[in-house]
Amino acid sequence: MCGIVCYVGREKAKPILMEGLKHLEYRGYDSAGLAIQNKKHIDYYRAVGKIIELERKTNDLDIPGTSGIAHTRWATHGEPTEKNAHPHRDEKDNIYVIHNGIIENFHHLKKKLEKSGVQFRSETDTEVLAHLIAQNFDGDLNEAVRKTMSQLEGTFGLAVINRKTPGEIVVARRGSPLIIGVGEGENFAASDVAAMVRYTNKVVHLNDNELALLTKDGVSISTAQAKAIQRPTETVEWQPEDAELNGFPHFMLKEIFEQPETILNATRGRLEPGEGVPKLGGIIPVWDRLKECRHMVIVACGTSYYAGHVGRYIFEKLTEVDVEVELASEFRYQKLNFPPNTFIIAMSQSGETADTLAAIREASRKGANLIGIVNVVGSSISRETEAGIYNHAGPEIGVASTKIFISQLTILTLLALLLGRHQNLSLTDGVEAIKALTALPDQVKKVLSQDNHIQAIAEKYYKYNNWLYLGRKYGYPIAMEGALKLKEVSYIHAEGYAAGEMKHGPIALINPEMPTVAIVPKDSMHEKMINNIHEILSRKGPVIAIATEGDDKIKDMVEDVIEIPETLDYLNPILSVVPCQLLAYHCARFLNRDIDQPRNLAKSVTVE
Ligand code: M6R
Repeated sequence: MCGIVCYVGREKAKPILMEGLKHLEYRGYDSAGLAIQNKKHIDYYRAVGKIIELERKTNDLDIPGTSGIAHTRWATHGEPTEKNAHPHRDEKDNIYVIHNGIIENFHHLKKKLEKSGVQFRSETDTEVLAHLIAQNFDGDLNEAVRKTMSQLEGTFGLAVINRKTPGEIVVARRGSPLIIGVGEGENFAASDVAAMVRYTNKVVHLNDNELALLTKDGVSISTAQAKAIQRPTETVEWQPEDAELNGFPHFMLKEIFEQPETILNATRGRLEPGEGVPKLGGIIPVWDRLKECRHMVIVACGTSYYAGHVGRYIFEKLTEVDVEVELASEFRYQKLNFPPNTFIIAMSQSGETADTLAAIREASRKGANLIGIVNVVGSSISRETEAGIYNHAGPEIGVASTKIFISQLTILTLLALLLGRHQNLSLTDGVEAIKALTALPDQVKKVLSQDNHIQAIAEKYYKYNNWLYLGRKYGYPIAMEGALKLKEVSYIHAEGYAAGEMKHGPIALINPEMPTVAIVPKDSMHEKMINNIHEILSRKGPVIAIATEGDDKIKDMVEDVIEIPETLDYLNPILSVVPCQLLAYHCARFLNRDIDQPRNLAKSVTVE
């Protein structure tokens, strides 16, 4: 986690860095800092709390320097205090470093440095970088960073300035994202393009174990072994306004309301209605192997993992492929023994989740084929997989994932449909699926039009401290995702359960103080879910039902019903998740929570 942004050019650096930091705040928001160089002088400020605190501290200051580095922190080593906030300095205040990642051998390095007389000012792992770079500096900052990289274990995206080499910024990466933005007479670097897309849409992705020297006039990239790299720039598709609120009070709400468009973006140019076969250009490189594949493993974390769960059911329905879904954080600890031609699908919004990256590296070592379903173009997962499918969902800024879940489900459906049509799925089924997918954006709009009704339900229940979410088959992962959303943004305790497990334990919790959200669309599980609802009602548990339009049976039983339009059973999750997202959002709003940046969380989890 943590976000870093750097600028070197002709403009004053402070406003550019502050603006950049605001767009990175989703990555971490417990403290922030910046260091700006003006000839051989460095202005240096840090503050505990959100970026606004750093802004308060520096607002009235006219800082003239035109190059600098800035950081927003999500604490790993050391509490979120000012002394632990980045940048960190060497003892002589020459070297200033910001860092995203974890230096795993920092204890060892710190001890060595302390033995040589170095006094540490913070509890962070990052501070060792400043002292090591200072020790390794012999007139050339780039070489000092290169030498330091060889001493490090762990992950880093880092940026360094040196009082003695004004106008230079050196950035380096291993395992944490770092993108260089190329401008005219100015250059940038950041953890995410969102921090610089206002100034340039030309970017160069730095690979692991590479470093770059940035001046206002150019960027020179080289490997840790000092081999020069020439890499062309890529053009970023995102528009600056994609990363703005555009009148919504929160990014979470904006992103929930963007979902009809998200489905269109995921399907655009990919649907072939007549043949019932989607077109997915990104997997052409592996298609010969993929079409023969009979075993897949979806690895992901959090919301992406729950989307993978739905995906498993969709693949079961449409293809002959056996699909497992694994938590990336656990995957590496398993005995991995793949049948020949196994495909791993790494699914991630950010494409930078450390657990997912570690999982695919392990799977690749064991000979599996890798494909990615990723939103952030050029991210680590997209580059470490042989082929893949982009979500094209635009930036997702709210820490709680919403639109990406729907996008992932859409893309998994397309992939399953493509494979299914090359296996046993009939033309009729293929055409029916594409017709249903095409109807989804308007159907999501219909669910969104019930926002006021959902808000009223949230108002009725937001004071309840424990919630249960229940679903079966396609509805089960939605129960888990619904519970995760509520926990994340409202801090209400919620559990997502397979409804069939109720009688094996959770039913003991049911009482008038515990609302249950029942995912009960009209599908093959409908009758069984109705039985579960009866069990809850007879124990005086309040029920909120997410049910198909016109389901009078449910309406007769349950007071609070949110309706979703009718679709194919395996597409129901794309509709039933929307009320869950809105319920979580409104509960959080009634509780005055920090919706886009919930406590203790960060958007992109780049530490294991
Ligand atoms: O970027 P990724 O999709 O790999 O992120 C995975 C999880 O960290 C993410 O879904 C997390 O659980 C969100 N906070 C969920 O809202």
